Amino acid sequence: MLSTIALFASSRRHGNTGAVLDKIAAELRFEIVDLSESNVTPYDYAHANRADGFEPLMRKLLGRDKIVFAAPVYWYSVPPHMKSFIDRLTDLLEIPDLREQGRQLRAKRAFVVATSGIDQISPAFISMFRDTFAYLSMQYCGHLHVNCDGGYKNGIGESDIEAFKALLRGQ
Ligand SMILES: Cc1cc2nc3c(=O)[nH]c(=O)nc-3n(C[C@H](O)[C@H](O)[C@H](O)COP(=O)(O)O)c2cc1C
Repeated sequence: MLSTIALFASSRRHGNTGAVLDKIAAELRFEIVDLSESNVTPYDYAHANRADGFEPLMRKLLGRDKIVFAAPVYWYSVPPHMKSFIDRLTDLLEIPDLREQGRQLRAKRAFVVATSGIDQISPAFISMFRDTFAYLSMQYCGHLHVNCDGGYKNGIGESDIEAFKALLRGQ
Protein backbone atom coordinates (compact mmCIF):
# COMPACT_ATOMS: atom_id res chain seq x y z
CA MET A 1 0.00 0.00 0.00
CA LEU A 2 2.06 2.87 -1.33
CA SER A 3 -0.40 5.39 0.05
CA THR A 4 0.18 4.23 3.64
CA ILE A 5 3.06 4.84 6.01
CA ALA A 6 3.51 3.98 9.68
CA LEU A 7 5.30 6.00 12.33
CA PHE A 8 6.61 3.70 15.03
CA ALA A 9 7.93 4.48 18.50
CA SER A 10 8.84 2.06 21.28
CA SER A 11 11.81 1.51 23.54
CA ARG A 12 12.39 -1.72 21.63
CA ARG A 13 12.01 -2.20 17.88
CA HIS A 14 11.20 -5.89 18.10
CA GLY A 15 8.95 -5.86 21.14
CA ASN A 16 5.18 -6.21 21.30
CA THR A 17 4.22 -3.14 19.29
CA GLY A 18 6.87 -3.81 16.66
CA ALA A 19 5.66 -7.39 16.25
CA VAL A 20 2.01 -6.37 15.83
CA LEU A 21 2.88 -3.60 13.38
CA ASP A 22 5.28 -5.82 11.39
CA LYS A 23 2.55 -8.41 11.00
CA ILE A 24 0.16 -5.86 9.51
CA ALA A 25 2.79 -4.14 7.37
CA ALA A 26 4.06 -7.43 5.96
CA GLU A 27 0.63 -8.25 4.59
CA LEU A 28 -0.48 -4.80 3.52
CA ARG A 29 3.05 -3.88 2.40
CA PHE A 30 3.58 -0.41 3.76
CA GLU A 31 6.68 1.35 5.02
CA ILE A 32 7.47 1.67 8.74
CA VAL A 33 9.46 4.67 9.93
CA ASP A 34 11.15 4.09 13.29
CA LEU A 35 11.05 7.47 14.98
CA SER A 36 14.07 6.56 17.11
CA GLU A 37 16.11 6.64 13.89
CA SER A 38 14.54 9.76 12.42
CA ASN A 39 16.38 12.45 14.38
CA VAL A 40 13.22 14.33 15.32
CA THR A 41 14.34 16.46 18.25
CA PRO A 42 12.00 17.94 20.87
CA TYR A 43 9.98 21.07 20.16
CA ASP A 44 12.00 24.27 20.35
CA TYR A 45 10.26 27.66 20.80
CA ALA A 46 13.15 29.29 18.89
CA HIS A 47 12.87 26.75 16.06
CA ALA A 48 16.63 26.37 16.12
CA ASN A 49 16.26 22.69 15.25
CA ARG A 50 14.92 23.09 11.72
CA ALA A 51 17.85 21.16 10.23
CA ASP A 52 16.98 17.94 12.08
CA GLY A 53 14.93 15.06 10.71
CA PHE A 54 11.45 16.51 11.19
CA GLU A 55 10.99 18.43 7.94
CA PRO A 56 12.29 15.64 5.64
CA LEU A 57 10.01 13.20 7.48
CA MET A 58 7.03 15.54 7.07
CA ARG A 59 7.65 15.81 3.33
CA LYS A 60 7.65 12.03 3.14
CA LEU A 61 4.42 11.73 5.15
CA LEU A 62 2.63 14.31 3.06
CA GLY A 63 3.21 12.10 0.03
CA ARG A 64 0.97 9.42 1.58
CA ASP A 65 -2.77 9.35 2.19
CA LYS A 66 -2.89 7.24 5.37
CA ILE A 67 -0.66 7.60 8.41
CA VAL A 68 -0.52 4.88 11.07
CA PHE A 69 0.76 6.00 14.47
CA ALA A 70 2.08 2.92 16.31
CA ALA A 71 3.21 2.94 19.94
CA PRO A 72 2.88 1.08 23.22
CA VAL A 73 1.09 2.66 26.15
CA TYR A 74 3.74 3.88 28.57
CA TRP A 75 2.17 5.41 31.69
CA TYR A 76 -1.10 6.26 29.91
CA SER A 77 0.85 8.08 27.22
CA VAL A 78 3.23 7.55 24.29
CA PRO A 79 7.00 6.91 24.32
CA PRO A 80 9.26 9.98 24.04
CA HIS A 81 10.02 9.76 20.31
CA MET A 82 6.31 9.76 19.46
CA LYS A 83 5.70 12.68 21.85
CA SER A 84 8.54 14.65 20.25
CA PHE A 85 7.09 14.03 16.79
CA ILE A 86 3.62 15.14 17.88
CA ASP A 87 5.02 18.21 19.63
CA ARG A 88 6.90 19.13 16.46
CA LEU A 89 3.63 19.29 14.51
CA THR A 90 3.39 22.66 16.24
CA ASP A 91 6.10 23.85 13.81
CA LEU A 92 3.55 23.47 11.00
CA LEU A 93 1.30 25.98 12.73
CA GLU A 94 3.98 28.47 13.75
CA ILE A 95 6.63 28.62 11.02
CA PRO A 96 5.25 30.60 8.06
CA ASP A 97 6.87 28.53 5.33
CA LEU A 98 5.57 25.30 6.88
CA ARG A 99 1.94 26.39 7.24
CA GLU A 100 1.02 25.01 3.83
CA GLN A 101 2.22 21.60 5.01
CA GLY A 102 -0.01 21.99 8.05
CA ARG A 103 -2.96 22.57 5.74
CA GLN A 104 -2.04 19.49 3.69
CA LEU A 105 -2.37 17.37 6.83
CA ARG A 106 -6.12 17.99 6.69
CA ALA A 107 -6.45 15.55 3.80
CA LYS A 108 -4.74 12.73 5.71
CA ARG A 109 -6.41 9.73 7.27
CA ALA A 110 -4.97 8.76 10.65
CA PHE A 111 -4.92 5.37 12.39
CA VAL A 112 -3.47 4.23 15.72
CA VAL A 113 -1.88 0.87 16.56
CA ALA A 114 -1.23 0.39 20.27
CA THR A 115 -0.27 -2.35 22.69
CA SER A 116 -0.49 -2.31 26.45
CA GLY A 117 -0.77 -4.62 29.43
CA ILE A 118 -4.53 -4.51 29.93
CA ASP A 119 -7.69 -5.30 27.96
CA GLN A 120 -8.95 -1.78 27.39
CA ILE A 121 -6.87 0.90 25.76
CA SER A 122 -6.02 3.76 28.10
CA PRO A 123 -8.61 6.53 27.51
CA ALA A 124 -5.89 9.16 28.09
CA PHE A 125 -3.64 7.58 25.43
CA ILE A 126 -6.28 7.34 22.73
CA SER A 127 -7.81 10.75 23.56
CA MET A 128 -4.43 12.39 23.06
CA PHE A 129 -4.33 11.04 19.50
CA ARG A 130 -8.01 11.70 18.76
CA ASP A 131 -7.90 15.25 20.06
CA THR A 132 -4.66 16.01 18.24
CA PHE A 133 -6.04 14.70 14.94
CA ALA A 134 -9.21 16.73 15.45
CA TYR A 135 -7.23 19.89 16.20
CA LEU A 136 -5.24 19.41 13.00
CA SER A 137 -8.43 18.52 11.07
CA MET A 138 -7.01 15.12 10.17
CA GLN A 139 -9.54 12.34 9.69
CA TYR A 140 -9.26 9.82 12.54
CA CYS A 141 -10.29 6.45 11.13
CA GLY A 142 -9.82 4.14 14.13
CA HIS A 143 -7.39 2.15 16.19
CA LEU A 144 -6.12 -1.33 16.92
CA HIS A 145 -5.29 -2.17 20.52
CA VAL A 146 -3.72 -5.48 21.55
CA ASN A 147 -3.33 -6.55 25.16
CA CYS A 148 0.22 -7.92 25.29
CA ASP A 149 0.36 -8.77 28.96
CA GLY A 150 2.87 -11.64 29.14
CA GLY A 151 4.35 -10.70 25.75
CA TYR A 152 2.94 -10.71 22.23
CA LYS A 153 2.60 -14.14 20.67
CA ASN A 154 1.26 -15.02 17.25
CA GLY A 155 -2.49 -15.41 17.43
CA ILE A 156 -3.10 -12.89 20.20
CA GLY A 157 -5.67 -10.27 19.21
CA GLU A 158 -6.04 -11.97 15.83
CA SER A 159 -9.65 -10.97 15.15
CA ASP A 160 -8.93 -7.34 16.08
CA ILE A 161 -5.84 -7.38 13.86
CA GLU A 162 -7.87 -8.76 10.95
CA ALA A 163 -10.56 -6.11 11.48
CA PHE A 164 -7.93 -3.38 11.57
CA LYS A 165 -6.35 -4.62 8.33
CA ALA A 166 -9.76 -4.50 6.68
CA LEU A 167 -10.30 -0.98 8.00
CA LEU A 168 -6.92 0.18 6.70
CA ARG A 169 -7.50 -1.44 3.31
CA GLY A 170 -11.00 -0.04 3.01
CA GLN A 171 -10.33 3.60 3.85
C1 LIG B 1 7.69 2.22 30.84
C2 LIG B 1 6.45 1.38 30.68
C3 LIG B 1 5.23 1.92 31.02
C4 LIG B 1 4.06 1.18 30.84
N1 LIG B 1 2.86 1.74 31.15
C5 LIG B 1 1.72 1.05 30.92
C6 LIG B 1 0.45 1.63 31.18
O1 LIG B 1 0.32 2.78 31.61
N2 LIG B 1 -0.67 0.88 30.94
C7 LIG B 1 -0.58 -0.42 30.47
O2 LIG B 1 -1.61 -1.05 30.27
N3 LIG B 1 0.62 -0.97 30.17
C8 LIG B 1 1.76 -0.28 30.39
N4 LIG B 1 2.98 -0.84 30.09
C9 LIG B 1 3.01 -2.16 29.41
C10 LIG B 1 3.25 -1.95 27.90
O3 LIG B 1 2.30 -1.05 27.35
C11 LIG B 1 3.12 -3.27 27.13
O4 LIG B 1 3.96 -4.25 27.67
C12 LIG B 1 3.45 -3.04 25.66
O5 LIG B 1 2.97 -4.12 24.90
C13 LIG B 1 4.95 -2.88 25.44
O6 LIG B 1 5.21 -2.71 24.08
P1 LIG B 1 6.70 -2.68 23.52
O7 LIG B 1 7.22 -4.09 23.60
O8 LIG B 1 6.61 -2.17 22.12
O9 LIG B 1 7.46 -1.75 24.43
C14 LIG B 1 4.15 -0.14 30.30
C15 LIG B 1 5.39 -0.67 29.99
C16 LIG B 1 6.53 0.07 30.19
C17 LIG B 1 7.88 -0.54 29.82
